[in-house]
Amino acid sequence: DRADALPYDLAGRRVVISAGGTREALDPVRYLGNHSSGKQGYALARAAAQRGAQVTLVSGATSEPGEPAAVDIVHIDSAVQLEREMIEHARDADIVIMAAAVADFRPISVAGSKIKKGDDGPAPIRLDTNPDILAGLVRARSDGTLRRETVIVGFAAETGDADGGVLDHGRAKLRRKGCDLLVVNAVGDGKAFGTDDNTGWILTADGQETALPFGSKTLMASRILDEAASVVPHG
Ligand code: CTP
Ligand code: CA
Repeated sequence: DRADALPYDLAGRRVVISAGGTREALDPVRYLGNHSSGKQGYALARAAAQRGAQVTLVSGATSEPGEPAAVDIVHIDSAVQLEREMIEHARDADIVIMAAAVADFRPISVAGSKIKKGDDGPAPIRLDTNPDILAGLVRARSDGTLRRETVIVGFAAETGDADGGVLDHGRAKLRRKGCDLLVVNAVGDGKAFGTDDNTGWILTADGQETALPFGSKTLMASRILDEAASVVPHG
């Protein structure tokens, strides 16, 4: 990926990206988490900054060794914190990208002190449903909290199952979320999670489906930004 070949088409644009996994606390030392590496979101942040955008990266847990250059970074732990930061920073954004792996559920309460093993064996962990941040951003745009011109991009990591293939699940998710673009990745068999390469499709709300050729997450990032930039209104 040659930096000198990058377009400078996002100059002056505000891009807000979430990346990495959320951690849902159980007690002061334990959490429920996931294996998200944050690589795709960080690659998007770097690529958007190189294309001239003013980038805010809202980052959960990642395996990234450092912070990307020329990017404002905000660190979060939980989905509830991520939601608050996304709504706050998305207010004046041109493009919002939800690349974070958000826990669907969180423990119903956080113990104030370390949970002890005790004599009775493990207590069940009761869970509450986390807010759907992506759907919430789309709602915020409809009710005027976000600007109507803001382009909202979601991600979906899917496997095929008895209900349909990866693309079927992606199409249904795009409709359910109401975002403008959905990046669909095929996962399982070591694909996507924690790897440097990614493959999938970009689906648009108006029914276009573009296959993403197998390549690095950096290459994926520029394809995703090409697509998002092409739907950002001019001016
Ligand atoms: N997402 C979100 N808030 C959540 C869960 C997911 O904003 N509580 C976002 C993710 O960042 C991603 C998109 O929604 O951009 C799709 O996430 P995914 O987990 O695939 O969708 P879910 O609606 O949680 O559906 P599933 O039952 O397949 O997990
Ligand atoms: Ca989910």
